[in-house]
Amino acid sequence: MVIIVGVTGGIAAYKSVHLVRLLVRAGHSVHVIPTPDALQFVGLTTWEAISRHRVTTSVHEDVAEVRHVALGQSADLVIVAPATANSLAKMTAGIADDLLGATLLATSAPVVVAPAMHSGMWRHPATVRNIHTLLARGVHVIGPAEGELTGGDSGPGRMVEPEEIAARALALVGPHDLAGLDVAVSAGGTREPIDPVRFIGNRSSGRQGVALARAAADRGARVSLVAAHIDAGVLAEAAHPGVTVVTVGTAADLQAAMSDAAAGADVVVMAAAVADYRPADASEEKLSKESAQGPSRILELVETDDVLAGLVGSRRPGQTIVGFAAETAPGREALLERGRRKLARKGADLLVLNEVGWARGFEQPDNAVIVLGPGGSVVAEAAGSKRQVADAVWDAVLTARAATPR
Ligand code: CTP
Repeated sequence: MVIIVGVTGGIAAYKSVHLVRLLVRAGHSVHVIPTPDALQFVGLTTWEAISRHRVTTSVHEDVAEVRHVALGQSADLVIVAPATANSLAKMTAGIADDLLGATLLATSAPVVVAPAMHSGMWRHPATVRNIHTLLARGVHVIGPAEGELTGGDSGPGRMVEPEEIAARALALVGPHDLAGLDVAVSAGGTREPIDPVRFIGNRSSGRQGVALARAAADRGARVSLVAAHIDAGVLAEAAHPGVTVVTVGTAADLQAAMSDAAAGADVVVMAAAVADYRPADASEEKLSKESAQGPSRILELVETDDVLAGLVGSRRPGQTIVGFAAETAPGREALLERGRRKLARKGADLLVLNEVGWARGFEQPDNAVIVLGPGGSVVAEAAGSKRQVADAVWDAVLTARAATPR
């Protein structure tokens, strides 16, 4: 999607750097149009670096390409954040004395504003009237939030946090084909303790599961995300008003959390890498070499429960269950064969299959998957960012649900 982020001259402009970053990371093409005043707060270089596009404030640059019209017409969404009292007044009056004002007149895309100003200015009859006029024109107003303001006062006037602006703005234009669905997604990798300082873990970063949770929320679902050992930076991508996160440690913790989450879910997605074995007895004391007999140590492992198979066994009527399988395979046919056997063994509706190796699949921003459906047929294939793969998985879920009478 092409998104224009208009930045006007308020201190909250620094928070919009994060907003732009979130939108770029979500795969959108973002053009920032600051007002000249906004550049007092955050400079052109920052906007260009973060948006990866040229940034200008003036209609007098790139005149040949009629930049305000070109940008305005190409946009799928315009977000003005922060929107100062002055910029709201100018929008209301249709003043076009800079590139942002001109673009706002030239665009027919949905416009979202995130006001930020002192409470007194927000409550002033002039601003109140401007907001009413903008709302009547179809502009979407997000916030302001209440809280501490620059200068020490507090009250309504803080710009809403970038995560919420991004989620609510994207929700306006994105598909809402998962609206009304409750989904439970597990992500990350479980860790089984050997002793208080060691564990058996795996290389899953949780990125694909987080992308699945986020994509579902953007598409209107209510999401329970059961997160096993996901870095805070990765988990932050799931921040969305529609996502509730439960963090877990071991396979047994994950099983308990998923069984709770699945009890009310229409769709269950097991993207987590769950340990198949755990040490039979986690030692209360740190194991030392002194306690070992000779140069080797034997660790007894016992099988963990198969969470996915358990969820399939207690499936609610109409519930769609999706498993994942990361396999090493010598070729496509061998990969499909392994996937088909796993799908049959687990009894899930869909199995998202990807090939992994020492340097493939893990900790990478991109992914490539094959989705197997009834009878092991290939129902979808997707490659690209983990978000693109996530959207393809949700498309496959919707197709599967449409094909099943419920
Ligand atoms: N899974 C699970 N509980 C386990 C192990 C795996 O729910 N104890 C789920 C995973 O979340 C995934 C699917 O089962 O959705 C396949 O995981 P995978 O590790 O590939 O399957 P395994 O049953 O462990 O088979 P393998 O022998 O190939 O490891």
